[in-house]
Amino acid sequence: MQLGRLALAAVASLSLLTGAMYQNAKKPKSLPLSLFAQAKASDFLGDKKCAECHDDVAANFVNSAHAIYMHAPGAPLDKQGCEACHGPGSFHVRDQDSVVISYKTISAKEVEDACLRCHGDLMKKPHWDSEAHARAGISCVDCHQIHPKENVNITGGDRGVVQKQVFAAVKPSNPLLKADEPTLCNQCHKAEVMKFRDNSHHPIPEGRMLCSDCHSIHPTNADRLKATSFKSKCVTCHQDIAGPFAFEHDPVAGWTGSGCTECHNPHGSNNPTLLKSFSRGLCLQCHTDKGAHHPGHTCWDAGCHVAIHGSNTNADFLSR
Ligand code: HEC
Ligand code: HEC
Ligand code: HEC
Ligand code: HEC
Ligand code: HEC
Ligand code: HEC
Ligand code: HEC
Ligand code: HEC
Ligand code: HEC
Repeated sequence: MQLGRLALAAVASLSLLTGAMYQNAKKPKSLPLSLFAQAKASDFLGDKKCAECHDDVAANFVNSAHAIYMHAPGAPLDKQGCEACHGPGSFHVRDQDSVVISYKTISAKEVEDACLRCHGDLMKKPHWDSEAHARAGISCVDCHQIHPKENVNITGGDRGVVQKQVFAAVKPSNPLLKADEPTLCNQCHKAEVMKFRDNSHHPIPEGRMLCSDCHSIHPTNADRLKATSFKSKCVTCHQDIAGPFAFEHDPVAGWTGSGCTECHNPHGSNNPTLLKSFSRGLCLQCHTDKGAHHPGHTCWDAGCHVAIHGSNTNADFLSR
């Protein structure tokens, strides 16, 4: 980009046209919301203006999953195009060094404010602030990539950061993420992602599931009201285990502790069927008096407690 030459030309033509206006404009603080609040209609210059100097970025943005929303007919001026995120252009065009909403320099909280101007339906500010990622100072743009980049090798979409995919097969992830989900999450949660290489695992490496099939990174307001527990999450896919049964097994029903994860590792395990322990040790966690009971078997061998998740016929879970 020949920014220098273009910038000079643009600044020159701009000051001819609107010099008086700019001389009267007060320099705002470069915080997202205060910039928007201080802007007049004439401070919004439109995408064509930005493209004069940022031609490559502007040309690429057309391919972003966001672009169509940014050009919705009838949207208010401050929610259109580049300026919906970067703030009213007049201040920046006049003083390029100091006044633009630059997502590389603002804080995680400011990024959040800027994005939640439009994404308040998904989540309200106090609500996001109470989530683990926000509490740890992770910002929307640590995970999300707004501008598409060229020469990207990761599973389609707007991927901006070229990096090695963790798993060869990947279920398509949201197009505005920096990488497919397992690759993205792996940057910060290597230990959890590694568990999916164990013998028994949820089929993320096979490209049949995503982390977000179980985890709500930003639970919607509705999700939060429902306060979805992991048990109810698990049984959305494993309905046969949901019951209700005439004879419920307390830990499966979730009446003791954490439900399914009393016995299963949700990510992966080297024991069959994601079990925390292959044999009776699993049951001895709670049934401490059954240590010497039918040794040499697992407790759920044929003829034993085969209906371990609950039964309609037998109070000892010996038949379904
Ligand atoms: C007169 C030329 C010119 C115009 C018009 C212009 N910019 Fe800039 N912009 C620059 C220069 C010069 C810089 C600072 C150098 C750089 O970082 O590339 C800059 C920096 C930026 C940055 C910060 C980049 C970073 O490193 O974080 C953003 C974002 C930005 N401009 C967005 C816009 C938007 C949105 C518009 C339209 C409202 C716009 N610019 C219009 C010249 C211009
Ligand atoms: C939905 C919000 C959003 C919109 C709309 C948007 N940007 Fe950005 N822009 C960002 C974010 C976030 C970054 C930080 C890097 C990233 O995530 O891609 C950024 C980075 C930039 C940069 C820094 C240069 C770089 O690539 O590192 C420039 C320049 C820029 N945007 C210009 C524009 C222009 C011009 C438009 C309109 C064609 C525009 N932006 C539309 C959010 C947006
Ligand atoms: C001017 C309004 C506006 C701003 C500001 C804005 N967005 Fe969006 N964005 C939308 C709309 C509208 C949609 C589509 C409908 C929806 O998902 O709410 C969307 C969609 C998305 C999607 C889903 C895309 C898809 O195809 O699934 C993501 C992710 C996203 N935005 C992230 C961000 C992030 C991160 C920021 C801050 C850097 C941001 N947005 C700023 C309006 C905005
Ligand atoms: C830790 C990573 C991470 C962070 C931080 C994050 N997101 Fe996301 N976001 C995701 C993932 C993964 C998805 C796709 C799965 C999903 O929809 O839950 C997503 C999806 C979205 C969507 C589309 C939702 C839909 O229903 O289609 C929007 C909009 C969005 N994010 C906005 C934001 C905003 C705004 C922020 C900051 C306040 C943010 N995200 C912070 C990872 C993240
Ligand atoms: C930029 C780093 C980063 C990325 C990327 C990231 N996380 Fe996190 N995540 C954190 C931090 C930091 C915490 C809070 C401290 C902790 O528990 O390790 C956290 C916490 C969590 C938690 C615990 C939540 C709780 O309530 O205790 C889950 C679950 C999680 N992340 C899932 C994900 C998933 C799924 C992805 C990918 C879509 C992801 N994270 C991407 C950094 C990240
Ligand atoms: C089958 C559902 C499921 C899938 C898929 C899944 N998780 Fe989890 N994850 C859970 C459950 C349940 C827990 C809570 C574990 C517990 O309490 O023992 C958890 C806990 C976590 C934690 C918090 C760990 C801690 O020690 O607090 C992180 C981080 C995490 N998962 C990341 C991921 C990542 C990254 C992916 C995708 C590669 C993923 N998860 C896929 C169900 C899932
Ligand atoms: C989005 C759907 C989905 C969710 C949610 C889900 N699972 Fe799964 N689960 C699967 C799929 C798909 C498989 C692999 C089945 C196959 O390969 O045929 C699987 C396999 C399993 C297996 C191993 C089955 C076997 O025969 O080896 C166990 C155990 C299991 N899940 C437990 C859980 C638990 C516990 C949770 C909640 C933390 C959970 N699942 C949440 C889809 C899901
Ligand atoms: C008390 C321990 C325990 C709890 C709690 C438990 N399971 Fe299991 N689960 C087992 C055992 C043992 C097996 C292996 C049974 C076999 O191989 O015959 C198993 C097998 C499975 C399987 C694969 C075989 C099948 O029956 O389809 C799935 C899927 C599964 N469990 C899901 C869940 C879900 C979902 C929950 C929570 C609602 C849960 N489990 C709670 C002990 C438990
Ligand atoms: C997290 C604790 C926990 C684990 C792990 C657990 N159970 Fe239970 N189980 C209970 C509770 C609580 C009850 C009902 C109260 C009671 O009578 O002890 C129960 C009831 C039973 C019953 C009904 C008879 C009785 O004692 O009331 C059988 C049979 C049983 N469990 C077998 C198993 C087997 C087999 C395993 C291993 C696959 C297992 N349990 C793992 C907590 C657990």
